[in-house]
Amino acid sequence: MKNIMVTGGAGFIGSAFVRQMVKKHPEFNIIAFDKLTYAGNLENLTPVNDLPNFKFVQGDIADREAVRSTYEEHAIDTVVNFAAESHVDRSILSPDAFINSNTVGVHILLESAQKHGMERFLHVSTDEVYGDIEGDHFSLEDDPFQPNSPYSASKAGGDLMVRAYHVTYGMNTIVTRGSNTYGPYQYPEKLMPFFISEAIDDRPLPVYGNGMQVRDWLHVEDHAGGIYTALMKGEAGQAYNIAGENQQNNIDVIRLMLKHLNKPETLLKYVPDREGHDRRYAMNCDKLKALGWKRLYDHSDFDKAVADTVAWYKANESWWRKIKTGEYLEYYKRQYAARLAAAGATA
Ligand code: NAD
Ligand code: DAU
Repeated sequence: MKNIMVTGGAGFIGSAFVRQMVKKHPEFNIIAFDKLTYAGNLENLTPVNDLPNFKFVQGDIADREAVRSTYEEHAIDTVVNFAAESHVDRSILSPDAFINSNTVGVHILLESAQKHGMERFLHVSTDEVYGDIEGDHFSLEDDPFQPNSPYSASKAGGDLMVRAYHVTYGMNTIVTRGSNTYGPYQYPEKLMPFFISEAIDDRPLPVYGNGMQVRDWLHVEDHAGGIYTALMKGEAGQAYNIAGENQQNNIDVIRLMLKHLNKPETLLKYVPDREGHDRRYAMNCDKLKALGWKRLYDHSDFDKAVADTVAWYKANESWWRKIKTGEYLEYYKRQYAARLAAAGATA
């Protein structure tokens, strides 16, 4: 392992992984490859931009020639694929880009890797491939896939294609499936940064349905650390769940954010639910723990971790205010205007 291509390296989790790797492994060359979609942001890479073992290449994982030439020019021996359309609500509005990046794009990365020769190919997948988890079950890596949104179906397509390249062509692959991730540099369409940034401006906060959906919250540093453990120690052909073991109802998470923001509950507006909304995700992550993975943030640290996350967005207003313009505002209207109107509020 010497030249590692991190696709989606300018996004939320990809950039956290790049920042960790560049500093931890000066002997590796880290090449961030990113299309810079609406969610890609070079500012997320500012802390490593001038380091000698870091390079950035703009490109699309669904573009065969861009992938081939990057593999060759940088003598890539390892791929860590974060690149994806990642927002469930956007996938409900417009699924096409999701299928193109999350399924077709993964295939193009694999096909070119097979031709070029690759020591290891790690693909970043999600707990959403297992679908809505009933009762008190915790998904295991061999559980069946039951994706319910265009996003999760497109991620399941990529995840299964990685499996096929291992079984059919013997490629050295690893899949990780992470849970709901939070922390600094998250695009402000996702629950935490969206609600924090809206609440700072005293704007209405659209809670989907009754707010009783359950997510398992994982700090971004721990998600990146879990991917690192799987990359270094995982067994070829295996999948590893990366869980926060920190189940929370949405409404409890929202109340915690309001507490640390010192903002009133009158900002909350209960709006019509997300279509096909999965009620609960929950995974067992003993398999990754057996490789030595340990989290920095546990369930008992969540209050403090949310306080720190709120503090980061308060201290970095210029980062998210730049984003909340142009296309963002068009998306915001499409997603929320009618919902908020139904709840008697104005978008
Ligand atoms: P993000 O939207 O913040 O970042 C995605 C990045 O991928 C962006 O920089 C974007 O420009 C880039 N990208 C998109 N399409 C591309 C393409 N075709 N070619 C090259 N680059 C492209 O997403 P994130 O939250 O950082 O998620 C990263 C990965 O982790 C995704 O694969 C996602 O499915 C997975 N994941 C996310 C979470 C979460 O809670 N955020 C949890 C589990 C798994
Ligand atoms: O579980 C892993 C997944 O977590 C990742 O694969 C996805 O890339 C990531 O976006 C995330 O998906 P979610 O749909 O769970 O995250 P989101 O932040 O969009 O929503 C979290 C919960 O909050 C979900 O139950 C919907 C709810 N929600 C979200 C928004 C944006 C609201 O109630 N109101 C909102 O405005």
